[in-house]
Amino acid sequence: MDYALLFEQFSARDDVVRWSAQKRLHGALRLAIQQGVLPAGLRLMSSRALALELGIARNTVVYAYEQLASEGLLCTGQRGSVVSALAASMVQAKAEQQAPRMKLTSQGLSRRATKLLSAPPFSEQTGAFVPGVPALKHFPIARWRRLLDDAWRTTSATHLGYGEAGGAFALRSAIADYVCASRGLVCDADQVIVTEGTQASLNLCAQAFCDAGDLAWMENPGYLGAQMAFRAAQLKLWGIPLDLDGMAPSAADWRERPPKLIYVTPSHQYPVGCVMSLERRLALLAQARRHRSLVIEDDYDSEFRYAGPPLPAMQGLLPDAPVIYLGTFSKTMFPALRIAYMVVPRTLLQPLHALLAKNYPSGRVVEQMCLATFIRDGYFSLHVRRMRRLYQQRRDCLLHLIQQHLGDLLEVHGESAGMHLSVCFRDQSIDDVECSERLAQLGIIAPALSSHHVGQRRHTWSGLMLGYAQVEERTMPGLLARMKQALK
Ligand SMILES: Cc1ncc(COP(=O)(O)O)c(C=O)c1O
Repeated sequence: MDYALLFEQFSARDDVVRWSAQKRLHGALRLAIQQGVLPAGLRLMSSRALALELGIARNTVVYAYEQLASEGLLCTGQRGSVVSALAASMVQAKAEQQAPRMKLTSQGLSRRATKLLSAPPFSEQTGAFVPGVPALKHFPIARWRRLLDDAWRTTSATHLGYGEAGGAFALRSAIADYVCASRGLVCDADQVIVTEGTQASLNLCAQAFCDAGDLAWMENPGYLGAQMAFRAAQLKLWGIPLDLDGMAPSAADWRERPPKLIYVTPSHQYPVGCVMSLERRLALLAQARRHRSLVIEDDYDSEFRYAGPPLPAMQGLLPDAPVIYLGTFSKTMFPALRIAYMVVPRTLLQPLHALLAKNYPSGRVVEQMCLATFIRDGYFSLHVRRMRRLYQQRRDCLLHLIQQHLGDLLEVHGESAGMHLSVCFRDQSIDDVECSERLAQLGIIAPALSSHHVGQRRHTWSGLMLGYAQVEERTMPGLLARMKQALK
């Protein structure tokens, strides 16, 4: 049992940072006992050894053990401190409590929704190297709070009704300026539609532009969130093979299965991380136009680019490109903000606005006004610049450690941009799902590339995703040592 890891992971939770070491140790052990990680009958390390291992005072451990004993979770005696039999019944009771609830949730749902339950929820995974999580500890909360206070102070009763369809104009206009200047888009503020996250944007695209049974293409492997949205709208998914230049549809794909929607992540493919070449982008746009397909360009983390300027977004490559561009503030600000945006071709604006007005009432006006100020006053670009520097340092550290310790086993992709990279096994017989599961037991979350297959269509990518944005450099050597242990 890796006590240091148990303690470290528990101590990293935001809600316990102010707790004393004793309280955190007690909490970490209690949770591990409740979850069955420390099973009934297990003898814990002696207080002296554990204190040494964790670098804390022995009394701290003694008091934590005493508290657990007083709760009936530990028995102390000649054998030392042993997890009590009561713990087994707690674990069992918890499992029993959960079982009927799981059943109930799927019972009340439609067959369509029940099928979606197999996907993991967004917020469940935490810790190193969960992909896509920004360095939230570095977000300027005080500044945001002050701007939010200001926004509320200038709010009158007129702002408390439904907001403008498509979002507050001040925000749409700040977004339009930003994407035109930094991502090469060609658009006006009225083409920008503010949503409550990319997931909402994807749901809206599928609902607005497709009927049940329509075909959507995705890169294979591809983003599970998009698969979820498209499956929820009862679209048929077709995974298009991916190589290091991006999605590579064949002539037969176009001839035999022309799609209604094409979902792509060209600036940093999710999950592999490669960048779609200009040639592929242009070819995809030309074919999409010919087949009247709509390209959904998800530009989720393009702000973080470490090697030269980014390729401009597909939306701006051709006049009136058949592209809906998706951006999000989940990576540049924080995921709980739930503000994202779509940039929509002019031809689709009017029907989309009509649909929005009838079925998607708009709100969160104060947060939207606050975000508009945050962007206009330069705080947004300052924060993005800082995070780019920080993520680059973290990425460099990770790359260095991979090269040093695992270079003979792994090949790195997707390190030039974004908040995660991927590593593929040089030995192709390694099962990435098994490896990812083994790492999860060691407290490392590194999703397998092969589990991002689209529909039932298998692909040849095998490896792991490593999100580094929220991982502090000082913890990386330990994490890499654990990875090495699991991989070897
Ligand atoms: C490919 C991709 N797109 C978009 C998002 C952001 O989604 P949202 O704006 O719903 O938080 C993520 C989040 O991880 C992502 O991985």
